[in-house]
Amino acid sequence: MLWNKSLEIGIPAIDDQHKELFRQVDILLDNSKQDRVSQTLKFLGAYVKKHFSDEQMLHIKAKYPKAETHRKMHTDFVGAYVKMEKEYESDSANKLQVLLRINKTVVDWLKHHIMVQDKDFAAYYKSSNEKK
Ligand SMILES: [Fe+2]
Repeated sequence: MLWNKSLEIGIPAIDDQHKELFRQVDILLDNSKQDRVSQTLKFLGAYVKKHFSDEQMLHIKAKYPKAETHRKMHTDFVGAYVKMEKEYESDSANKLQVLLRINKTVVDWLKHHIMVQDKDFAAYYKSSNEKK
C-alpha cells in the first residue's frame, strides 16, 4: 500500500477517499500483465473526479479562501490524467512504459498535493470549526 499515516489530513471522509485512490493505483500495476488496465484507468479517473468534487464541495461549505486555486489544481491534474490515459490507449508498443509513467505521476502528484494543499485545507477546516 502506497498510502501511509503521514498522508493523513484528519478529515476521515477525505482520508478514506485518499486511501482508496492509492489502492486503485496499486491495482493498476497488479493488472499490468492482464488486460484489465483500461478498465482500472477508467475507474481511477472517475474516482479521482468524484473525490475532487467532494473535496471542492467541502471547501465551498467551509468558505475556504483558497478554494479556487485548489480547484484549478484539481482541474489541471484531471486534464493531465486524461491525456496520459489517451496516450496509453493509443500507444500499442510502449504500453508498460506509459503505464509506469502514469503510475509514478499519479502517486507523486497525489502525495505532494495531499501533503501541501489538502493539509493546508485541513488546518483551515479545523481552526474554523474550533471558532464555532
Ligand atoms: Fe485536493
